[in-house]
Amino acid sequence: MKNISVLGSTGSIGRSSLDVIDKLSHRFKVVGLTAGRNTQLLEKQVEKFNPKIVSVEKKEEAEELKRRLKDKSIRVTFAQEGAEEVASFSENDIIISAITGIDGLRPTLAAVQEGKKIALANKESMVVAGPLIQDRIRKFGAQLIPVDSEHSGVFQCLAKEKMENVKKITLTASGGPFFRKPPSEMNNITLEEALNHPRWKMGKKVTIDSATLMNKGLELIEAHWLFGLAPRQLGILIHPQSIVHSLVEMSDGSVLAQLSPTDMKIPIQYALTYPEREDSLLPSLNLSEIKALEFYEVDTEKFPIIKLSRLALEEGESFPIVLNAANEVVVSAFLEKRIKFMDISEVVSAIVENHQKRKVQSLEDIFDVDRETRRASLDLLKKRS
Ligand SMILES: NC(=O)c1ccc[n+]([C@@H]2O[C@H](COP(=O)([O-])OP(=O)(O)OC[C@H]3O[C@@H](n4cnc5c(N)ncnc54)[C@H](OP(=O)(O)O)[C@@H]3O)[C@@H](O)[C@H]2O)c1
Repeated sequence: MKNISVLGSTGSIGRSSLDVIDKLSHRFKVVGLTAGRNTQLLEKQVEKFNPKIVSVEKKEEAEELKRRLKDKSIRVTFAQEGAEEVASFSENDIIISAITGIDGLRPTLAAVQEGKKIALANKESMVVAGPLIQDRIRKFGAQLIPVDSEHSGVFQCLAKEKMENVKKITLTASGGPFFRKPPSEMNNITLEEALNHPRWKMGKKVTIDSATLMNKGLELIEAHWLFGLAPRQLGILIHPQSIVHSLVEMSDGSVLAQLSPTDMKIPIQYALTYPEREDSLLPSLNLSEIKALEFYEVDTEKFPIIKLSRLALEEGESFPIVLNAANEVVVSAFLEKRIKFMDISEVVSAIVENHQKRKVQSLEDIFDVDRETRRASLDLLKKRS
C-alpha cells in the first residue's frame, strides 16, 4: 500500500486524482490533502478518504475546518507553509502536485527535498524553476513523473529509449476554442467563449491558457527541463482531436506516439502506478469511430504567445519566470472581466519584450523576478485601462 498526498485536491486534476485513487484503493491510501478556498469540498474529501493532515489557504478557514472536524484525529494547517508541511509529510510515498501557478512551487520543492515520487501536474513550477528542481531531484534522489498528458506521452514513448537517439519531440495542442476562428473575429471574444474548451474540462486558469496557447508555450519550456532537449528539438502541432498526445522522432526515422482517450485520469493513473500499469475503467479508444486524426502548424500570427514562449525558452534565466508571472497576472484580470481576450497576449508580449535578462541562481532570485514582473504587469494594465 502506497500513501499519497494530493496538493490541490479540490481542483480538476486533484478531483480526477482522487477518483483514480478511489478506484485503486487496494494499492493507494490518501494521507494528505491541500485545498485553496474550497473548504466545503475539502471537508467532503476528508470524510471519504480520512487523511491525517490537510491544509487550506487561509488561517480563519483552517480554524473553522478544525472545529468542524473536531471528532477526527487530523492535523489542519494553512497557507504556503501548510501546503509544504503536507508535501513533506513523513508518511508520504507519492505526492501529486496539482496546485495552479507559481503557488505550487514551494510545496513541489518540499516534496522533492523529501526524496519522494512526485506526480507533477503543476507545470508552472518546472517553467520557473526547471534547473533548480532538476538539481534538487538529483541531490535528494526524488523521482518526477509528468502528469501533463503530452509529457506523460513522451515519458511513455521514451521508457525503453536512449535520449541520445531522440531527434525531436513534438507536443500536440487541441488548438483550443479559437483554432478555427478568423483573426478578424478574435477581438470580441467573451470570457464564456474562452472558458468553453472543446476537448478538456480543466481549471479556469489552464483553460484560458489553452485558449491563448500559452499552455502549450509553458509546456514547451516544461518539456525542455523534463527531457533535456535543446529548444530547436522541441516542436508543437495542432491536433484538434486530442488523441495523439505527443510524437517522439528517433534518429533512425521512426516516430513513436502515445494515443489515448482524452481524459486526464489516464496520465494520472500512469504516474501513480509507474512502472506498472493497472486496468482502466474508461472505454477503449475507438479509432474507427474517430476516423480522422488531423495535424496543423500553429498560426503564430494569430497566437503570438507561441513565439514569445520560444523566446523565453531560448533566452532562459529570468525570461520564463517573467513569461509566467505576466501571464498569471493578465489571466486573473481577464477572469475578472477587467481586460479583453487579446489584451492577454499584448500585455504579456510587452512585458517579456521589455525584460532585461537576469541570472537566476536561487529560489529567492525566482521570487524576486516574479514579484517585480507582477508589479510591472499590474502597472501596465492600469496604464492601459
Ligand atoms: N486540468 C487539467 O486537465 C490539467 C492538465 C495538465 C496539467 N494541469 C496543471 O495542473 C495544475 C492544476 O490545474 P487544475 O486544472 O486542476 O486547476 P484548478 O481546477 O484551478 O485547481 C487548482 C487547485 O489548486 C488550489 N489552489 C489554487 N491556488 C492555491 C493557493 N494559492 N494555495 C493553495 N491552493 C491553491 C485550488 O484550491 P481551491 O479550488 O480550493 O481554491 C485547487 O485545489 C495547473 O498547473 C495546470 O496547468 C492541469
